[in-house]
Amino acid sequence: MKKILTVDNKYINSKIIIENNSIKKFLKLEEKKDNKIFILIDKKVFNTNNFFVKKRKNIFCLQINSNEKIKSFNSYKIIINYLLKNNIDRSSTLIAIGGGTIGDLSGFIASTILRGVRFISIPTTLLSQVDSSIGGKNGINVSYGKNLVGTFYHPHLVIVDPAILKSLSIRQMRSGYAEILKYALINDKKFYLWLKKNYSAILTKKRNFLIKSIEKSIKIKLKYIVSDEKEKLINSASRAMLNFGHTFGHALEAMNQYKTNLTHGEAVSIGMVTSAKISHKLKKINKLEFDDIINHIKNVGLPFSSKNLKNPKIYNLISSDKKNMNNSINLILLKKIGSAYYKRGLNINKLKNLTK
Ligand SMILES: NC(=O)c1ccc[n+]([C@@H]2O[C@H](COP(=O)([O-])OP(=O)(O)OC[C@H]3O[C@@H](n4cnc5c(N)ncnc54)[C@H](O)[C@@H]3O)[C@@H](O)[C@H]2O)c1
Ligand SMILES: [Zn+2]
Repeated sequence: MKKILTVDNKYINSKIIIENNSIKKFLKLEEKKDNKIFILIDKKVFNTNNFFVKKRKNIFCLQINSNEKIKSFNSYKIIINYLLKNNIDRSSTLIAIGGGTIGDLSGFIASTILRGVRFISIPTTLLSQVDSSIGGKNGINVSYGKNLVGTFYHPHLVIVDPAILKSLSIRQMRSGYAEILKYALINDKKFYLWLKKNYSAILTKKRNFLIKSIEKSIKIKLKYIVSDEKEKLINSASRAMLNFGHTFGHALEAMNQYKTNLTHGEAVSIGMVTSAKISHKLKKINKLEFDDIINHIKNVGLPFSSKNLKNPKIYNLISSDKKNMNNSINLILLKKIGSAYYKRGLNINKLKNLTK
């Protein structure tokens, strides 16, 4: 069944379609238009699907071998040159078909080339369907850290096709599940209890469970986006709540030099456990709930610890996190399952003790 979610306010005009086998249908319609279309597509996705039956003169398709390293100034430059060489103009559309790495890079390109062209996002990993394609954040990584250069630019349309996940590995499914779990932990205890019961049906791609978890996740994310698009609030309605687990997660990814042996979702999983531990030590979340989270993460098969948490370098990286100002650390913590809060001004030495 087709679900359409729309955000239409003073700042955002974006439509999200959730439907099985919707990609082919959409591309067929798009092919009929006569403006130029530039498609940046994940190479694996290109090779496992035959989306493009007819080749039209005005469709340009660039296959990308995606991984975290493509979120760089170098790829940005190469792709911008490719688009300009092929005479991209203000009436052109840029379509990203791939996971969060292609999505983040493409969104940044779409928002900056010619000061912005029509952008359509077609996420093909569970993580990108529930998280990165929603909310308009894009970005690239620099040596100082992850996503430090980017803009807010909402795709005009997001096509979420759960059927495209059929070729996705269990490891990538788990990685996306980490973000789904994040939504439940920060916002919805009932959803958490449902996930505990049904996580294996999601990971094994049982259609109805998968669609329900995707839709629920997107709806929770949209709630924060609508209330705080540019992450200006500093209370529990802040968009920053969506960064639960990410301060440590991003630092772990950077320490690992964005290598594929630690996916974004895996890093976030370790980050969520670390933040839950800090929340417990600060006498917020109780022991019962803390243990429950750890057990669930273990059952799912996501990682919960890393030796890099003991490496002092991690605190330099954490200090450069975007949420931190004036050298004190701001973290998203849990009061209890289903309720997150903004902990501001944590001293770095105190933080070191809390993570021991
Ligand atoms: N902008 C945001 O709001 C936001 C939110 C969360 C995460 N992110 C970013 O998203 C990125 C992670 O995204 P990701 O996990 O999708 O990573 P990814 O794009 O690297 O994809 C993971 C792997 O899956 C493969 N793949 C993609 N679709 C496939 C399919 N249908 N079948 C088989 N294989 C497929 C890719 O080739 C890649 O090897 C990170 O850079 C993270 O920072 C951004
Ligand atoms: Zn994330």
